[in-house]
Amino acid sequence: MMCDIVVERSWHSENMTDNQLEPCIKLPLEDGVLADIVEKAKDWALMHGACMRSKLNFSKDSLQFAPFVLLPSTFPQKEFKKAVEIQIILNELVHKVAHDYEFLSSSLKSTIEVDKFTGSLFQIYETVHKEGITQQTFSLGLFRSDYLAHSATNNNIKQVEINTIASGFGGISTHIPSLHRYILQELGHGDKVKNVPVNTALEGLCGGMLEAWKLFGDPNAVILFVVENITYNICDQRFHEFEIRRQNPAVIVVRRTLTQIADTAKLGKNMELIIDGLSVAVVYFRSGYEPAQYPSDNEWAARLMIERSLAIKCPSIHYHLAGTKKVQQALATPGILKKFLLDPAKVEALQEIFTGLYSLDLDEHGNRAANMAIMMPDGYVLKPQREGGGNNVYGEKIREVLQSMTDSPERTAWILMERIVPPVQKGYIIRPGGPKVPQMVNLVSELGIFGVIIGNSDTVIANQQVGYMLRTKLSDADEGGVAAGSGALDSPYLIQ
Ligand SMILES: Nc1ncnc2c1ncn2[C@@H]1O[C@H](COP(=O)(O)OP(=O)(O)O)[C@@H](O)[C@H]1O
Ligand SMILES: [Mg+2]
Repeated sequence: MMCDIVVERSWHSENMTDNQLEPCIKLPLEDGVLADIVEKAKDWALMHGACMRSKLNFSKDSLQFAPFVLLPSTFPQKEFKKAVEIQIILNELVHKVAHDYEFLSSSLKSTIEVDKFTGSLFQIYETVHKEGITQQTFSLGLFRSDYLAHSATNNNIKQVEINTIASGFGGISTHIPSLHRYILQELGHGDKVKNVPVNTALEGLCGGMLEAWKLFGDPNAVILFVVENITYNICDQRFHEFEIRRQNPAVIVVRRTLTQIADTAKLGKNMELIIDGLSVAVVYFRSGYEPAQYPSDNEWAARLMIERSLAIKCPSIHYHLAGTKKVQQALATPGILKKFLLDPAKVEALQEIFTGLYSLDLDEHGNRAANMAIMMPDGYVLKPQREGGGNNVYGEKIREVLQSMTDSPERTAWILMERIVPPVQKGYIIRPGGPKVPQMVNLVSELGIFGVIIGNSDTVIANQQVGYMLRTKLSDADEGGVAAGSGALDSPYLIQ
């Protein structure tokens, strides 16, 4: 008992918050009940494809269940609804930003001089912009906007970031509410299942791909998934592939790496992207968002060839750049939003979900932001222009990194963000290889809302919110990427 009390206290001091949400049912569960439900839940997850490939014992012949939270996590309904409703405004914003050459160029100017990766992406953008993006004016956006509830603002949601490339987990996340409903029913709480909202992310995302496919207008053309050399998150990707087949049995999906595309794809005489004799209608990137995915110039050449082609890109290079952290920061600059959104109500709604974002350019504003973070590193997150988790800097390390970059142009590749401190709740994370009876731990959750948009600079032909994902991590972990290994799949239990 003594020991428990010490653990509790040290946890409170580490998290600087007493903001606790009540779990959906009374916890802890009795050990026997817990062991029994964990075993059933693991089998449910395995049998419904809530799985990934093992990084330790990789084999294409086997799957492991993905880490998940045993019970759905409490989330304020009002904030969930807010996130859902704002998605179409965010889609519109990203779309408009992506079509604003001046804004993209000026926002990214200092960053691309020092960040080679973003610089290479920008070079592709410049190249096709100069040539005139006339081959294919339409883009497909499958976005995911991520949020944490913020203790300091009464658990109002604050946007962490918006992903415009390879927004993952729409596939697997669609099954997690059913897993949680099953678990609640098994535990005798069938009355509570109504608080777990339906998730139609998979249907909506694939519907978006099929709408783009139809817009392309060639019944024989395929959808090309650009994939990593090794795909651990295979179920999520296959769910998309299978759902496309379910919605339209005539459409073929092919999977290729950027290296394979470099080796075998070519442009036809009307700039069609042709791979192994197949014309490509839609290119869906599940790779291509981090430097290691371009091991040589060949992969960059492949990306440029795709961009030049007649295929509809998800994302096009301008959608990709509009999702960078530097652009996110530029959009939080006072007065900027109204340049893109004429309706003041939309601007106000967005401002409410933004939190402090600061440039670290080598000027007065950048110096002020850097000093702020050096003085109070726990209040901020330091972010480079990278995606995929594990790149940000937290706590004391912020001081060290910023001090090492004083007066160095390298600092302009980073942005500073106010740290969001989400409410905590008790629960159980179930991991492959974990104990039969898991320990009750303190958890925090991050909500992702999926959006679909199709349009060009003149017109938007689809703009929708299609579903959600919730992922949850230990309250003292900085990051909670599921694919990266520290997060767990979850679904929301909505409360008034
Ligand atoms: N401002 C913030 N406050 C608290 N946690 C944050 C903040 N920004 C990011 N994080 C945590 O770090 C993770 C990764 O950051 P994110 O900006 O989403 O980068 P990535 O592109 O690598 O996913 C988030 O999922 C979240 O858990
Ligand atoms: Mg993220």
